[in-house]
Amino acid sequence: MENIIYRNPSVEDAQKIVDFYNFVGGETSYLSFEKDEYPLDVEAQVASIKSLEGNQTNIMIMAMDGEEIAGIATINSSHKIKSRHEGELGIVVAKKYQGKGIGTELIKRLIEWARGNGVTTRIKLDTRADNTNAVSLYLKFGFQFEGCLKNSTLLNGKYYDLYVMGMML
Ligand SMILES: CC(C)(COP(=O)(O)OP(=O)(O)OC[C@H]1O[C@@H](n2cnc3c(N)ncnc32)[C@H](O)[C@@H]1OP(=O)(O)O)[C@@H](O)C(=O)NCCC(=O)NCCS
Repeated sequence: MENIIYRNPSVEDAQKIVDFYNFVGGETSYLSFEKDEYPLDVEAQVASIKSLEGNQTNIMIMAMDGEEIAGIATINSSHKIKSRHEGELGIVVAKKYQGKGIGTELIKRLIEWARGNGVTTRIKLDTRADNTNAVSLYLKFGFQFEGCLKNSTLLNGKYYDLYVMGMML
C-alpha cells in the first residue's frame, strides 16, 4: 500500500500499541495471545519502547496508515552472550490490511536491519502449522523448517502443531 509509513515507535505510541495488540489478539487465532491477553500494560509498553532506543538486537517497526496502526513486526533477542545473535521474529497485520504487501515490507525491513546490526546472525520464529499465509510469507524470505512442536497449541479443545522456522543471515 502506497500510503503506508513504516517507522519505529516512540513512547507516545504506547497506548495505541497495547490497544492494537489486544484488538488483533481477538481478530486472529494465530497469535499466542487472545483478545485482551497481550501481556504488557501501557506502563510496561513505555518501558519496552524506551529499551529499544539504541538497542542493537531488539527492534519494533510499525506500519502506519495515518494515525492508525496497520501492522507491527518485532525482533527480540536475549541479552545472554551465547544467544544474543539469535533474534525471534513476531509479526501481525490487522485483518483489514492483510494481503496488501504490508507483511512482506515489514519482514524485508526487519531482515535488512538484522543484517546491519553487527550482532544478529540468525532469525527464528514459530508459527502454527496451519497458518499457510504466514508459512508462505516466511518461505518467500528463505526461512527453513527446523522442527515441529506437536500439539503445542490447544484451542477450543483441538491441538495444533507449531513449526519452528529459521534463517541464517
Ligand atoms: C501472516 C501475515 C503477517 C501476513 O501479512 P500480510 O500483510 O497479509 O502479508 P502480504 O500481503 O505481504 O503477503 C505475504 C505473503 O503471504 C501470503 N499471503 C498473504 N495473503 C494471502 C492469501 N489471502 N492467500 C494466500 N497467501 C497469502 C503470500 O505468500 C504472500 O506473498 P505474495 O504476495 O508474494 O504471494 C498476516 O496475515 C497476519 O498478521 N496474520 C495474522 C497473525 C499471524 O498469523 N501472524 C504470524 C504469526 S507466526
